[in-house]
Amino acid sequence: MSEEVLSRVAVALDTDDRAQLRDWAAYFGPRVGVLKVGLEAFVRWGPEVVAEVREKAAAVFLDLKLHDIPNTVAGAVAGAQAAGADYLTVHAGGGSAMLAAAAAAADRVRLLAVTLLTHLDAAALDELDLAGDSRRRVRSWAMLARRAGCAGAVCSPLEVAGLRAAAPPPFLLVTPGIRFGSSPEAAAGDDQRRVATPSAAMAAGADLLVVGRPLTRAADPGRALARLEEEMLAAGNSLRGR
Ligand code: C5P
Repeated sequence: MSEEVLSRVAVALDTDDRAQLRDWAAYFGPRVGVLKVGLEAFVRWGPEVVAEVREKAAAVFLDLKLHDIPNTVAGAVAGAQAAGADYLTVHAGGGSAMLAAAAAAADRVRLLAVTLLTHLDAAALDELDLAGDSRRRVRSWAMLARRAGCAGAVCSPLEVAGLRAAAPPPFLLVTPGIRFGSSPEAAAGDDQRRVATPSAAMAAGADLLVVGRPLTRAADPGRALARLEEEMLAAGNSLRGR
């Protein structure tokens, strides 16, 4: 059961220290389902870091959030797949032609469409002329990605429930912005804004929880992992199929 629930966790290996990344991959790789390589690591170390992490993990999530013209994105998807990525992100905001080109280039890799980044709060969305109901926007962008052939969407845990109703499995719902305490105080000093607890994300129907700093920066990562597992199990839907 515990192995089952942690298979639904992707640990974000966000660091500029290669030795640190190796240590995290070695520690978390055997304990969770997915390791996530982000822009920071990929820009620094390139495709070889994907191969290195893959040796330690059941699956690698390459979080490049591609957003460019369709031809360029299609080429990048092919490259990421060749590097060994199992999951890859593209921005839903690139539009349906870009998403369809990405999906056409994706053979083995599972494409996840990023909707609205979880650090954007109401004021930031307003600045971007994206004020209004963010849940509605996330839902319509995710559905666009689904129609274009993406395997899933990335959204804040606060938006999962509405999206789950509109997009049943096997469409994957992936949620970063996981925090043990979801109070505003807990998010103070943190760049994430639209956050929720692991149990809330699970209860809302998330398939995969992306967790970075609450695990990697924990004084005791073993304890943090145990707490994450407990909270996910508490949601009571750990046996729901992916
Ligand atoms: O450390 P933390 O738990 O905030 O890490 C969250 C991870 O999820 C980061 O690697 C971040 O790049 C990624 N992410 C996100 N919001 C998205 C998509 C990905 O925070 N919409």
